[in-house]
Amino acid sequence: MRRHPRGVRRGHLRGVRDVNVGVRLFAEEDATAVAALIRTTLLTSNAADYPREELETIAEWYSAEGLVSRIGHCQRIVAVTRDATREVLGTAARRENHLEGFFVRPSWQGRGVGELLLSTLEDAARADAMRVLWLESSLTAVGFYEKAGFARIGEARDLGDGLVVEMRKRLDEAS
Ligand SMILES: CC(C)(COP(=O)(O)OP(=O)(O)OC[C@H]1O[C@@H](n2cnc3c(N)ncnc32)[C@H](O)[C@@H]1OP(=O)(O)O)[C@@H](O)C(=O)NCCC(=O)NCCS
Repeated sequence: MRRHPRGVRRGHLRGVRDVNVGVRLFAEEDATAVAALIRTTLLTSNAADYPREELETIAEWYSAEGLVSRIGHCQRIVAVTRDATREVLGTAARRENHLEGFFVRPSWQGRGVGELLLSTLEDAARADAMRVLWLESSLTAVGFYEKAGFARIGEARDLGDGLVVEMRKRLDEAS
């Protein structure tokens, strides 16, 4: 039976500040919408930090086919509106203690959706007895992760798809 991290069973919604938004697991039928959201976010929010070719390469990694092919390899979640449209507002993923692929629709940024995605995956990691989380942040998002308690490990370096900053957070410290 497929394991579901605590708090992100399909259809189980969590609140985000005063906005009607919840979180559930990514499903195959979300792939087209999520791939489009990621591409738009990359080309809008990351455009000041990365050349267009690098962003297009990353968008290709997050194509609908790519997202579906990795369903069994990571826990990807989506943030959705609670209204009838169930619009997808953001997405993020965890593979054991590694986080990746955080994207929030540009028009919804700054409203707590990223924080909701992050706290949901942190809770799931804690439930799986993980002690440390790590990720490679875009240059764009370093401040977001710092605010959430992550610390930079070293300088920005290029691992193949542009400059990233490795960051870590101990889960046994107060968050
Ligand atoms: C990074 C990202 C996921 C954050 O999502 P978000 O929904 O805008 O974040 P939230 O609204 O939950 O922000 C939580 C807090 O972090 C702060 N914050 C968000 N982005 C920040 C940034 N880039 N720098 C500094 N602080 C930031 C917010 O102000 C907020 O602080 P507050 O609680 O004092 O109000 C989103 O901006 C995004 O998609 N960025 C482009 C894609 C990207 O680079 N993703 C990371 C890939 S590793």
